[in-house]
Amino acid sequence: MLVSAKEMLEKAKAGHYAVGQFNINNLEWTKSILLTAQECNSPVILGVSEGAGKYMTGYKTVVGMVNGMLEELNITVPVALHLDHGSFEGCMKCIEAGFSSIMFDGSHYPIEENVAKTKELVAICAEKGMSLEAEVGSIGGEEDGVVGKGECADPQECKAIADLGVTMLAAGIGNIHGKYPENWEGLSFETLDAIQQLTGAMPLVLHGGTGIPEDMIKKAIDLGVAKINVNTECQLAFAAATREYVEAGKDLQGKGFDPRKLLAPGAEAIKATVKEKMELFGSVNKA
Ligand code: G3H
Ligand code: ZN
Repeated sequence: MLVSAKEMLEKAKAGHYAVGQFNINNLEWTKSILLTAQECNSPVILGVSEGAGKYMTGYKTVVGMVNGMLEELNITVPVALHLDHGSFEGCMKCIEAGFSSIMFDGSHYPIEENVAKTKELVAICAEKGMSLEAEVGSIGGEEDGVVGKGECADPQECKAIADLGVTMLAAGIGNIHGKYPENWEGLSFETLDAIQQLTGAMPLVLHGGTGIPEDMIKKAIDLGVAKINVNTECQLAFAAATREYVEAGKDLQGKGFDPRKLLAPGAEAIKATVKEKMELFGSVNKA
């Protein structure tokens, strides 16, 4: 059964580790992530962007697929199904469809509007027992049409949003979606520290988890990050493994063109990436 992300993230924050959010795109992605979480005995959050939700036909299809897998793969670790960077309308659709968690990304609105819209969703999520992530500042780069300037969050604005009673808070701290450029200046730990001082026990979320050096991940966890989002890294691993299969001509040997064979190396590569991240984030055996 899907669960809210609240309990797993509060445990993570108290235990000084982070739970990974891994974005899904299709059946192979979802199955690889769920099987790895079970094998690692780790809680996990399945992230669905609005674009990926559309690609998978719609949110109800996603809920049906994930619930079916939880049952038929005998997944017993805590799993949350979470809308990633959602609009207000997208959040309402996911609440209706049966997601267990949502992110309302109101970071592009003036803070008053972000507060007002987030507040409405806090009330709805509390009634439904769902977890809610909010965002302040912005994540640089682009993810599925969501473009951010990358400005660091104002800690006072973070406090205003945290005080509404959201479950977890994503703040821009110099993090970027996609690959980090050569001249990236790194995470702003000063900003993160100020946010954690003002928001106390609230689990903080680090977006743009692809390619952040290990020492920065560990330091971010020390400063209150309890959820780390990874998307691009699984895509890169899937693409590289699939390319290797095709370039080796394996799709031309025997029944190698069978989609169940063609997609298998990519699915295995996703498993390896997710396992590596769960080990780095410290969530193994924390289910
Ligand atoms: O919301 C999802 C993420 O922040 C993932 O970022 O694609 O850079 O790993 P990434
Ligand atoms: Zn993100």
